[in-house]
Amino acid sequence: MEPKKKVTILDLAAMKQAGKKITMITAYDYPFAKIVDDAGIDLILVGDSAGTVVQGVPNTLPVTMEEMLYHTRMVARARERALVIFDLPFMSYQESLEQAKHNAGRALKEANAEAVKLEGGANMAATIEAIVNIDIPVMAHIGLTPQSVHRLGGFKVQGRDEEKRRKLLEDARAVEEAGAFAVVLELVPAVVAKEITEMLTIPTIGIGAGIHCDGQVLVLHDLLGMNPGRKLKMAKQYASLYDLSKKAVEEYCAEVRDKKFPGPEHSF
Ligand code: KIV
Repeated sequence: MEPKKKVTILDLAAMKQAGKKITMITAYDYPFAKIVDDAGIDLILVGDSAGTVVQGVPNTLPVTMEEMLYHTRMVARARERALVIFDLPFMSYQESLEQAKHNAGRALKEANAEAVKLEGGANMAATIEAIVNIDIPVMAHIGLTPQSVHRLGGFKVQGRDEEKRRKLLEDARAVEEAGAFAVVLELVPAVVAKEITEMLTIPTIGIGAGIHCDGQVLVLHDLLGMNPGRKLKMAKQYASLYDLSKKAVEEYCAEVRDKKFPGPEHSF
């Protein structure tokens, strides 16, 4: 088999130029990273959404640097083609530029990521610039930034009124000027996302931000239907893995109880 052509940040800029949509998805371990890489995804985000969809905590705030390193190492081992992005967790970059550079460096050095993502706009411009200046690519994330859930008063659409729209545009401009290679727009009205996408030269990756973004991202567990209690308007469920997996385990239990498993073909 031909080796797969590796995606780099240069390809993303070219894709925006050519009007080719960019695909991004989250993954947190080796088997799922292998599935999404083999499926031809462009970007794998090892998201701090690991907190909500893997660890079972109510938001992303408790996720630690050590946990993100653990998840990213597994993902990076499966990666052949996709660009692997490490999501800097809450309080791993907000304290100082030194802390941000140190932890972004750990993502590449200890977990084999190729870029980092952090949440924030104009308020994080100096941090983005500091990390980019040590040659680590940064993806920014504006709009609904889940690490600011308490300040924002919940998981709400951002940029609906004129003042907030203007602030979003200012944030988008600031992260591009600071050197981010792309920006996630989360829970932003489609018309505002369109305006930002047309204004920036770097690609926008939307989640709950409409069709006009340069690319789209979804949380893998939402796309695969793995958490039955989690139904989000912004996410489309393409499979029902919870139901499929539960049925398989129920069948296994029934066969053990009925003394049908293991059969002679599974025995030595
Ligand atoms: O952590 C995450 O999964 C994310 C995406 C929703 C963009 O930040």
